[in-house]
Amino acid sequence: MEKMPYRSEVHDAAPRVAPRAMREPAETTVSTDWRIGLPVLQGKRVTLREMRTSDATSLFAMLTTEEVARFISPPPSTVEGFERFIAWALRQRLAGSYACFAVTLEGTDTAIGIFQLRELEPGFGTAEWGFAIGSPYWGTGVFQEGAELMATFAFDVVGVHRLEARAAVRNGRGNGALLKFGAVQEGVLRKSFLKNGEYIDQMRWTILKEEWRQAKVVWSERLH
Ligand SMILES: CC(C)(COP(=O)(O)OP(=O)(O)OC[C@H]1O[C@@H](n2cnc3c(N)ncnc32)[C@H](O)[C@@H]1OP(=O)(O)O)[C@@H](O)C(=O)NCCC(=O)NCCS
Repeated sequence: MEKMPYRSEVHDAAPRVAPRAMREPAETTVSTDWRIGLPVLQGKRVTLREMRTSDATSLFAMLTTEEVARFISPPPSTVEGFERFIAWALRQRLAGSYACFAVTLEGTDTAIGIFQLRELEPGFGTAEWGFAIGSPYWGTGVFQEGAELMATFAFDVVGVHRLEARAAVRNGRGNGALLKFGAVQEGVLRKSFLKNGEYIDQMRWTILKEEWRQAKVVWSERLH
């Protein structure tokens, strides 16, 4: 998800009227617990949990560096901007269209990155995921473990059958991470992402539920 669904210029300006699902959660979220509150996804070293307002400072520090932001939509440019992003993410989760987890490591509760999932069609059959991790943790296995937790959530809890990802063609690490994770490259989305005033090509990657089921045994052995 090079293109973050949250855009400060659009969402911060939106009227603060809660959608129906937010005002009446008891009626609308009976069978979808994750909409009421995200579960804590526990791996060996990595935990994914719901973002909190207090994560804004560490996420700002981790995700606004040049190397992290190079190929993705511009992250919020201030700590307050991240606080607004976190509040927006909680509203979207309650509305049932988006989930964003903070990544933390064993022995600490500091958010070092995020994994996002957004609905591409009603009912979440097809969804898009995206991720960004602070560069001190690149190449350490954090992505791989977090991705396994997130895929398990998407397929087992949310009910996704097709999980898409987009990565700028020039994003070597993003594409390398998806390839290593077992995603299948489906093609190039030409000039599909506006970055720094230039339309650039993106690679589209997918994982299908049946492919994930086959890999699941191996993954669950690694996670527990
Ligand atoms: C994408 C991201 C989460 C991946 O995490 P990571 O820890 O860097 O990923 P990993 O190291 O596990 O995997 C990356 C793989 O790509 C490989 N790679 C690195 N640069 C590469 C390049 N230029 N071309 C091809 N492969 C490359 C790495 O060698 C590694 O494979 P290996 O473990 O077999 O050596 C992290 O890089 C990140 O947050 N990037 C900034 C945000 C971003 O671009 N998000 C992606 C949006 S789709």
